[in-house]
Amino acid sequence: MKLFGHIKSASGLALVALVTVSSGFLQPTPASAKTAAAQPAILTAAAVAVPDRYSADTAERIFNEGGNAVDAAVAIAFTLAVTYPEAGNIGGGGFMTLYVDGKPYFLDYRERAPLAATKNMYLDDKGEVVPGMSLVGYRAVGVPGTVDGMWQAQRRFGKLKWKQVLAPAIHYAQDGFEVSEKLQARRDAAAKSFAGKTNFDTYFGNLKQGVNFTQPDLAAVLERIAQQGAKDFYTGKTADLIAASMRGHGLITKADLAQYKAAWREPVQAEWRGYRVITAPPPSSGGIGLVQLLKMKADLAPDFKGVSLNSPQYVHLLAEIEKRVFADRAQYLGDPDFYNVPVAQLIDDAYVARRAGEVNPNAPSDTTSVQAGLGTSMPEKAETTHFSVVDKWGNAVSNTYTLNGPFGAGVVVDRAGIVLNDEMDDFSAKPGAANMFGVVGSDANAIEPKKRPLSSMTPTILTRDGKVALVIGTPGGSRIFTSIFQVINNLYDYEMPLPDALAAMRFHHQLLPANTIFWEPYKPIDGELAKQIEAKGYTLSGQGFNGDIQVIRIDGDKPEPAADPRGRGVARVVK
Ligand code: DON
Repeated sequence: MKLFGHIKSASGLALVALVTVSSGFLQPTPASAKTAAAQPAILTAAAVAVPDRYSADTAERIFNEGGNAVDAAVAIAFTLAVTYPEAGNIGGGGFMTLYVDGKPYFLDYRERAPLAATKNMYLDDKGEVVPGMSLVGYRAVGVPGTVDGMWQAQRRFGKLKWKQVLAPAIHYAQDGFEVSEKLQARRDAAAKSFAGKTNFDTYFGNLKQGVNFTQPDLAAVLERIAQQGAKDFYTGKTADLIAASMRGHGLITKADLAQYKAAWREPVQAEWRGYRVITAPPPSSGGIGLVQLLKMKADLAPDFKGVSLNSPQYVHLLAEIEKRVFADRAQYLGDPDFYNVPVAQLIDDAYVARRAGEVNPNAPSDTTSVQAGLGTSMPEKAETTHFSVVDKWGNAVSNTYTLNGPFGAGVVVDRAGIVLNDEMDDFSAKPGAANMFGVVGSDANAIEPKKRPLSSMTPTILTRDGKVALVIGTPGGSRIFTSIFQVINNLYDYEMPLPDALAAMRFHHQLLPANTIFWEPYKPIDGELAKQIEAKGYTLSGQGFNGDIQVIRIDGDKPEPAADPRGRGVARVVK
């Protein structure tokens, strides 16, 4: 059912909400109906912002072969499964927001709970959450969606042959790539948490800086997928290998794999300051969260007047807004195929304006009055990856996908080299119990067979007058949509140049723990700023993770890509 609302808010901004409450499982359009070839070039070049240099080379190759943004995105995703193994994946899942031929689309290829999953599967006899059980090992793994997602996206919108978009990934798996310092650091950190519990070191023990790292088992899988399409992964030899690895250890069977399908959904959309925001619907919380943040800040424009970026008052006002967004997230959000998420109501202008009206501009409002419960801070274990792509025809792809923690559950499919996710941790193992990111949930996000766990991933596209203006996204779990929100503020409210908008300090609040502001290692909150924020009643908390925003802005007909200085990303324009 589609809901379409158009209401004037207190601040005079119009919000258009076009959402789908229940999703459809559309069949991909046959390759013969692909449309992009007919489009005239409207940009001076294609561009990408990607998390590593190998995926930038892949994108360049695909554009040079005549591919469009969707071909490039699919080729990037397979490449990152090889060269960015801590988060790039075929053993995980994610979301793709697309703008093709002037129309928005959203593809949900999030993992699903196995058929044998049960609501209390991570609780002990006393009903307590067993620490680590949803994070490490075979029982933490959700049914992977990436291969079907890439297959459906490329079949529906790509111009090239399927084999062409797999070729760069097969090359890096067969012939190897040079391991960077940052990749080895992530491997070493992950290996400690998997030590003695999984087969991680059998496959990634040799992932050392400077080494040419080859993955022959993974190359064979990719080769089969290139030849046979997604069916190899879900019903063919690769499905056999996954099921064999799981037997006696985990829950996923061939029946789970055979019935997996990515879902085309209506994106969440809103009008904001002359832009149309096209972003992620449930099972992500991110799109709703981002629209609520943008709207509430606009509603509070008088309070923000004269407040400088990242000043103590700015931090306070953003924390007040974020408090309310996370209260809604915990209560209402889950997989729309299982739970009726009130999307239209949550981003309705009048509702958001009422929530903004509850913000106390002078002091932190009492956490328990907004939402009761307890949370914990985020440990260092967190990894996802995002890339942004535009082609010269003006099509765009914003893609965020993940294994959840770095190298997922730390288990690798025997004789296939596929790293498997630990996405089951994104479910609410028990109402009120915090997950890895310290966020809590309710029955809306309880574990059920075939259900998708609630996500924060927020691949987003902004258009203006029907043309792509911004393509943006990042990893960071519950930090994802608050990070995107801050960069959008930096760009459009504070009119910063793109590299400065990306490099500026970012911070985060999520209702729980009470009145806690998280800062990032890249630009810690310290010194005088820290004292002033604490004087307002906040506790400061460091976290081990920086975001990694990959963004493209289009001004006129020129794309300007930028990679977050926090990561090993690359921005490239391809003429
Ligand atoms: O779907 C989610 O929200 C999380 N599984 C994403 C994990 C993530 O971003 C970790 N990266 N830092």
